[in-house]
Amino acid sequence: MPLILLSGTPGTGKTRVGLILSRRLHARFTTVTWLVLENRAWRSYDPDTLSYVIDEDRFYRVLEDVSRADLVLDTHWVEPFAAVGGSVRYCAVLRTNPLELWRRLERRGWPAGKIAENVEAELLGVVSREAFNAFPDRVYEVDTTGKKPVEAAEELLDAMRRGARSTRPIDWLELLSDEEISELLTRITRARAKEVAER
Ligand SMILES: Nc1ncnc2c1ncn2[C@@H]1O[C@H](COP(=O)(O)OP(=O)(O)OP(=O)(O)O)[C@@H](O)[C@H]1O
Ligand SMILES: [Mg+2]
Repeated sequence: MPLILLSGTPGTGKTRVGLILSRRLHARFTTVTWLVLENRAWRSYDPDTLSYVIDEDRFYRVLEDVSRADLVLDTHWVEPFAAVGGSVRYCAVLRTNPLELWRRLERRGWPAGKIAENVEAELLGVVSREAFNAFPDRVYEVDTTGKKPVEAAEELLDAMRRGARSTRPIDWLELLSDEEISELLTRITRARAKEVAER
């Protein structure tokens, strides 16, 4: 049982769903962040973006190693895995209605600007598009809206058993009403303006 990528915008449930999935599959669970830290595959830390600058050579070596393991890997960055594409069995993408995602991220206590940035990415399907580009024939999207993490995990397991694939991304711009989209755009704009004012 090879590598399973579990992707999605922050807050869509990768960690919650991934832990359940890995238990059911008797596979190890880890996150890209943890892989980078565990293998010291970073060059420096950027205090402005609060993130590590990746040492690409080291990171690719780590990928070669993990691609041979039975692993559920939590990542919102799938593009580098195209290099070890052959060993990726599935690229699951968790999706969440942007209005529900807003509530989930708010419950985490995130600042409005950070919520807006991530909700906007989900609305536009940024992570999903990357997954379809990297693995056009191996993506399966799960809409987690109104589902418990265990239900989303079951849906994924069932899809994997059946070998089901998604043929196109969930498009929130098409699925949401005009009122919902304008409500989201208002909130995003307001959060951005507030962020700029506080700078
Ligand atoms: N299906 C769900 N229904 C309701 N709440 C959920 C669901 N899945 C996750 N959550 C909640 O949403 C939050 C985000 O979940 P989780 O941490 O698993 O997301 P994530 O995709 O791993 O995020 P990150 O990329 O920031 O690590 C958590 O507070 C979790 O309890
Ligand atoms: Mg997580």
